[in-house]
Amino acid sequence: MLVKKFLHQPSARNRMVRERLTEPLHLNLASLLVAVFGGVRSRIAFDLVQRPHYAYGLLEAADQARKAGLSAFTAVEFGVAAGEGLINMCRVAQLITAETGVAVQVAGFDSGEGMPPAQDFRDHPEQFGLGDFPMDRARLENKLPANCRLVLGDVSKTVPEFLKSNLTPERPLGFAAFDLDYYTSTKHALRLLSDADAANYLFLPVLYFDDIVLPQYSDWAGESLAINEFNAEHELRKIQQFRFLRSRRLLKNARWIDQIFILHLFDHPEVRETHAQRRMQNVYLNEMGS
Ligand SMILES: C[S@@+](CC[C@H](N)C(=O)[O-])C[C@H]1O[C@@H](n2cnc3c(N)ncnc32)[C@H](O)[C@@H]1O
Repeated sequence: MLVKKFLHQPSARNRMVRERLTEPLHLNLASLLVAVFGGVRSRIAFDLVQRPHYAYGLLEAADQARKAGLSAFTAVEFGVAAGEGLINMCRVAQLITAETGVAVQVAGFDSGEGMPPAQDFRDHPEQFGLGDFPMDRARLENKLPANCRLVLGDVSKTVPEFLKSNLTPERPLGFAAFDLDYYTSTKHALRLLSDADAANYLFLPVLYFDDIVLPQYSDWAGESLAINEFNAEHELRKIQQFRFLRSRRLLKNARWIDQIFILHLFDHPEVRETHAQRRMQNVYLNEMGS
């Protein structure tokens, strides 16, 4: 049933042809084995989870949280619409909790009423407009698992409110996905990354930006403009694309790799001088006769 649905989605079909089938044959064969016998980690490594970008970000955050001795972290999706992405995030989060023992609290931010009006060219009004992407709130709420909740209202209001009590050092922000389409909405949402004390974030929170991939997206509008302004406005917090992620992935053609960013918190408690002296080995010093 899911396979049939997948094959009827042109974007999914195109991506399958462009991204996966152009990977080396041995990796595609290995993928088949992993699809049948693999565990959560190997399925994520082979992009065999729906929305692999969510799976990657959640697993990275869970591993970081565990290393830091934490039993939970917070993940958010900005822009929920019909809620397919949010439900997917919650389900993947449950798999990752089973794998790592780290609980994930998921929050989905949305107006609940579709897109607000675009303000100016920076919101790409040629592409998005008032009322796009409405939500069937009652049906969606009914489907959400216990680890997930909706935060409804305009993000300019809900983000400051959320920050008052939802991010804590015991449940820091580990992963955030941005899919609000507009520059103005993303600018408000990015306050989640600047307006709380650094202890309320994992050391390297993983970010995903959905709206940076089309030819009409540039640094002068949309999400990229909001990111650049964030970096200009915050001396100790910077958002940067994870430039070398591709070399760490098995399947190199996936587009989502370019959509993963990292929040660098130079005011984080982890940024301090406490480590023991480090040494480098020199194998030549042990050579016979020297
Ligand atoms: C493209 S849709 C999200 C799709 C969803 N992430 C998915 O993959 O299924 C964008 C959503 O952003 C929401 N949105 C845009 N600006 C907003 C704002 N200022 N406050 C709250 N929600 C907003 C809209 O209601 C819309 O549902």
